[in-house]
Amino acid sequence: MKEELSRITENAGKEISQAKNPDELEKLRVKFIGRKGAITSVLRSIGNLPPEERPLAGELANKAKNEIAGLIDARKASLGSTAGKTGEIFDHTLPGKRPALGRRHPVTRAIEEIAECMMQLGFQWAEGPEIEDEFHNFVALNIPENHPARDPSDNFYIKDDVLLRSQTSTVQVRYMEKHKPPIRVFAPGKVFRPDTVDASHFYIFHQVEGLWVDKGITFSHLKSVLMMFGRMILGDNLKLRLRPSYFPFTEPSAEIDFSCFACNGEGCPTCGRKGWMEMGGCGMVDPNVLETLNIDPEEYTGFAFGIGIDRLVMAKYGINDIRLIFGNDVRFLRQF
Ligand code: DAH
Repeated sequence: MKEELSRITENAGKEISQAKNPDELEKLRVKFIGRKGAITSVLRSIGNLPPEERPLAGELANKAKNEIAGLIDARKASLGSTAGKTGEIFDHTLPGKRPALGRRHPVTRAIEEIAECMMQLGFQWAEGPEIEDEFHNFVALNIPENHPARDPSDNFYIKDDVLLRSQTSTVQVRYMEKHKPPIRVFAPGKVFRPDTVDASHFYIFHQVEGLWVDKGITFSHLKSVLMMFGRMILGDNLKLRLRPSYFPFTEPSAEIDFSCFACNGEGCPTCGRKGWMEMGGCGMVDPNVLETLNIDPEEYTGFAFGIGIDRLVMAKYGINDIRLIFGNDVRFLRQF
């Protein structure tokens, strides 16, 4: 029996060393140490031996079985890096799987472009909170208690005196509280109003605020900055139109229109055949606002503007429904 075991072990060793892949090794495992394998039949025949020889025979047979199992494991490990058949084995020569890359949202890209442009014009990036109090959203902006803009049904009030900001003009106030002129900042961000949702309204949208306060700032500074801003973002052919208007925090005030990006001012479906697109409001900072923030209006003047970023994005990319911007549908977002 001893000879038989060593013959089996020797054969197994030879065959195992020649196995080329895990499948072959598995077959050899079955052949030698499987339930009907060579060693197992030796183990079974132990019962025919005289009782005193059985323990030793059993020990030898088990030893041979373990040896063969060890040889199979060792061969498996050494084949490991080249035999990629079972999928359990890591083949480091295969090319890796690239993780799917996301894209920046078109509004994020627009904010980055706006920032680039404003910084080139010497403006610094300012920020303020999205949850505001009435002082920063209204009072300091010269918007009196009974003004319709303060109506609770036109704002997202969280509780008395606390609301989601309805305009980025709040950042003007916050910045002037902390800094004295010269001030030259822009503030992009989200604003919130409970508008009924349709193709051009959503209860969240984005604005960028501009503010320049210094000695001798005039309306012509405002006009040139808006012109340069529009042309940098929408192209060199852009025309600017300022229509007289009213805002409580600027005097005089104007609406900002840019010539339609799609038809270059000719009139087309995108601009409702007007040739112009309303982009926001602007004006010279009202002396009351400066005074509230302890800036002497006799010494300093300034201009401010607020432009709708979503509208810029829609004009630039020919998007006809603002809901697409907030829908987070990857089929839409992948196009940018
Ligand atoms: N905050 C105004 C709005 O949301 C837009 C605006 C108008 C901003 C005139 C200004 C400004 O800075 O001077 O309707």
